[in-house]
This record gives sequence, C-alpha cells and structure tokens, in this order.
Amino acid sequence: MFSDADAAALYDLLNPWDPARQPEDRFYDDLVMAAESVLDVGCGTGAMLHLAREQGHGGRLVGLDPDRAALDRARRQADVEWVEGTAADARSGADFDLATMTSHAFQCLVTDEEVRASLAAIHGALRQGGQFAFETRHPQARAWEGWRPSNPDDVVDLVDDAGRALRVWHEVDSVAGDVVTFRGSAAEPDGTVLRVDRVSLRFLDVAALNGFLTDAGFEVEAQYGDWHRGPITDDSREIITIARSR
Ligand SMILES: C[S@@+](CC[C@H](N)C(=O)[O-])C[C@H]1O[C@@H](n2cnc3c(N)ncnc32)[C@H](O)[C@@H]1O
Repeated sequence: MFSDADAAALYDLLNPWDPARQPEDRFYDDLVMAAESVLDVGCGTGAMLHLAREQGHGGRLVGLDPDRAALDRARRQADVEWVEGTAADARSGADFDLATMTSHAFQCLVTDEEVRASLAAIHGALRQGGQFAFETRHPQARAWEGWRPSNPDDVVDLVDDAGRALRVWHEVDSVAGDVVTFRGSAAEPDGTVLRVDRVSLRFLDVAALNGFLTDAGFEVEAQYGDWHRGPITDDSREIITIARSR
C-alpha cells in the first residue's frame, strides 16, 4: 500500500525546495534569511526551514502543520522547532518577525471562518510590524483548468524513494464559488491506483483577500503578480503578498 509517510516522501520528490533554481523559493529564502525569527505556517515536510538552518540561520525557526506524516519528515532535522497544528492554532506570543505560508498553503483555508481564525492567530504570533508573506493563485488564471489527466504537463511519471514507478495526476470534482475541489491520484504503471487524496482550495481575489487582511489587523505592504516582484496585472497567475502587522 501507499502510506501517509509515502505520500509525504512523494511530496518532497515532486516539490524539491531549491532557491538556486526556483524564483518562488528564492523569494522566501531571502525573507527568511533576513528575519531573526520565523514561523512557517503549513510548513509541510519542512524543507524551507531545513535549508535556512543549513545556510546558517541562527535565530528561532518554527514550523507548524496539521499533517503528522509531513511533520514526521520535518522532524528528521531537530534543529528547528516543529509544532503540530493548524494556522488557527498558532500560539500568540507576539514575537515572530516573519510568518510565511508557502507553496499555496494559504489556499487550504477554505471557509471565511478558517481564514479569519488563521489570520487572527498569525497576527497574534507576530510582533508589531512583523511581516506575513504568502501567495495564493490568482483566480483569473483559472489554474484548476489544467488539473486534468488529458494535460500532459499535469501528469508526472517518476520513481519514488522506495524504487516504485508511479504516475501522478489530478482531476477536478467541483468548482463551487471560489472553492475548487479536486483529487490527486498516484498509480502503478499498470494503472492500479495506490492512493487518492481529495483537496479543496480557495481562490480569493485581491479585494476579498485584502479585506480579510485588513480586518485581521494587517496592512498590505507589497503585492506582486510574479516572483520577480512585478505588479499584479490582468495576466498574473499569482497574488504574492507581504502584509505587515499593525
Ligand atoms: C502544498 S503544502 C505546502 C507545504 C510547504 N509549505 C511547502 O512549501 O512545501 C500545504 C500544507 O498546508 C497544510 N495545511 C492544510 N491546512 C492547514 C491549516 N488549516 N493550517 C496550516 N496548514 C495547513 C498541509 O498539511 C500541507 O502541509
């Protein structure tokens, strides 16, 4: 079978954290290395903070995620603090300089209630003037339309850490308002499906996103449409935000 630990390992294989090659990873790496203390919300398997420590970050690094299998992988490196919980569980110490939610983790916050509770907790974890950096896919780009097995760019064949040949793909089940629900599947080469994960993601637009941020006590310091800090335009696929705690 294909366990949760296998799924966490597969995540790392499909999504290597590499600031030297990927501008999105470099964007966050620069912010993290410049901050004294960092709370990575939805840290997953912890690759960003692992690398920050390896690169000599000497301050406080905390990763928070509700997925135990992902955290178990993160914990393989013990020089970072790993905490199991959702964004809304972030402890209010008002002392972090920077909070991050990378790789679209923010889109896992689906209901208004979850968005509000999460932003309130992140705000409470930051010192006054601290930054919250995250990105969410711009709904105008309709990224979910590419999440289908007939899109060759969205079907990945690979060999996992256990030496298993795998095919991975996505299928959208529903688009309800700004919430897209889809399945991610992993199968053996003969088509035997080993695992199906169902995920819902929210696609907030700029106005709705900024409304939530303002209500939670943030001001938007900068908002970009690409990883080279270009403005948001009609073609942007991302809404990349640096919000500052008021
Ligand atoms: C796409 S992964 C990103 C992981 C990691 N940030 C990265 O860059 O590789 C999304 C992560 O968000 C986590 N997540 C889901 N719901 C969450 C919530 N309510 N609060 C915090 N994290 C959540 C998931 O467990 C998952 O690890």
